[in-house]
Amino acid sequence: MDRLDKRLAGTGRWSRKEARELIKAGRVSVSGNVCRNPEEKVPAEAAVCVDGQALDGPGPVYLILHKPAGLVSATEDPREETVLSLLPPAYQRRGLFPAGRLDKDTEGLLLLTDDGPLAHKLLSPRRHVDKVYYLEVDGVLDETDVQAARDGMVLADGLQCLPADLEILSGGRSAHITLHEGKYHQVKRMLAARGKPVTYLKRIRFGPLNLDPDLPKGSWRPLSPEEIALLQNHG
Ligand code: URA
Repeated sequence: MDRLDKRLAGTGRWSRKEARELIKAGRVSVSGNVCRNPEEKVPAEAAVCVDGQALDGPGPVYLILHKPAGLVSATEDPREETVLSLLPPAYQRRGLFPAGRLDKDTEGLLLLTDDGPLAHKLLSPRRHVDKVYYLEVDGVLDETDVQAARDGMVLADGLQCLPADLEILSGGRSAHITLHEGKYHQVKRMLAARGKPVTYLKRIRFGPLNLDPDLPKGSWRPLSPEEIALLQNHG
């Protein structure tokens, strides 16, 4: 049996102090009953929930991260700080990795997990998991760019892209683009091929997951059971 605050802090997601605050605020339940006593002794098999979500067990973990610019999407790098540096130590030790990559200067939705088979499935080129980006360009986008994206662009090195949906936002200096594949630097290379280089890029959707507008840059949250099911059933 462990104290309730210790059980929460042991996940690495909260400090002991934060765990005590959550418990006192009535946000933690043990086997379905709200428990406001941080010192309550909890059997290992008791179902502990925070805000109605079960604490991580030994099974896979799925996190949605709002990646800021300046970090690389890797688990380790000899020179650069990685996105894992944003996670608490328990998650860093757990072997989580980013499912897919965003460039160092790209912001937005990154899925972090230790579920290798699911990540493999989502990233498989055959699945065509949709990714939606918000972008800003140096230049003004017009209907010829929309049509070129729709036709499937050929990049400067001859690479043929699948058709993509470009939706110009007001003013023509920003847009949403939906890709059905994920080639290296793809958005930047597509817009460069149109002579309108990308000046800002942010991923706002990955398959069935949307970047929450209220998830601050640099923050993360666990996926809900519904979101995990959506991912598992995707594609
Ligand atoms: N396309 C890019 O050019 N960069 C990213 O980070 C993602 C998609």
